[in-house]
Amino acid sequence: MIKKILVPIDGSDHSRKALEYASDIASKYKAIVHLLHVVAPLPSIPYEDVIEEMREGQERFAKEILDEAVREIKKKGITNFQSTMLHGDPAHGIVDFAKRNDIDMILMGSRGAGGLESLLLGSVSQRVCHLADCTCVTVK
Ligand SMILES: Nc1ncnc2c1ncn2[C@@H]1O[C@H](COP(=O)(O)OP(=O)(O)OP(=O)(O)O)[C@@H](O)[C@H]1O
Ligand SMILES: [Mg+2]
Repeated sequence: MIKKILVPIDGSDHSRKALEYASDIASKYKAIVHLLHVVAPLPSIPYEDVIEEMREGQERFAKEILDEAVREIKKKGITNFQSTMLHGDPAHGIVDFAKRNDIDMILMGSRGAGGLESLLLGSVSQRVCHLADCTCVTVK
């Protein structure tokens, strides 16, 4: 029933926890786990070299957090996984990826790296829940 699980990764403890849940569910259902980080667009400022440096920093960070997620998922004994980095608006990137890859379930943090502690849901998890066709689970 659950064959493809998408775990959007942003490097926060919330998404780490989501990955733990996803690993358990994937083991039970023998599902593939897709790890995805979406690199958000940078503001347009007229300093090309600064932008270039920021972009490199973003991509380095993306690679680090995806590599960490791969290490964690392997520790749980999962061998059926795929890791992807995309560029664009995070919520739309996650929802598009889910549609294109026939994802059955998106499992993400209720909040992430940037939010206020008092908020119930971050802007990305809120928009993904709203826009996605598949089951969305937010982990607290
Ligand atoms: N750029 C991203 N790429 C992939 N997944 C992401 C990204 N940003 C957030 N997520 C996922 O969405 C979950 C919720 O994060 P979200 O960004 O909505 O909350 P926040 O950072 O607390 O708030 P906000 O970003 O609105 O300030 C994260 O735990 C993670 O699973
Ligand atoms: Mg965020």
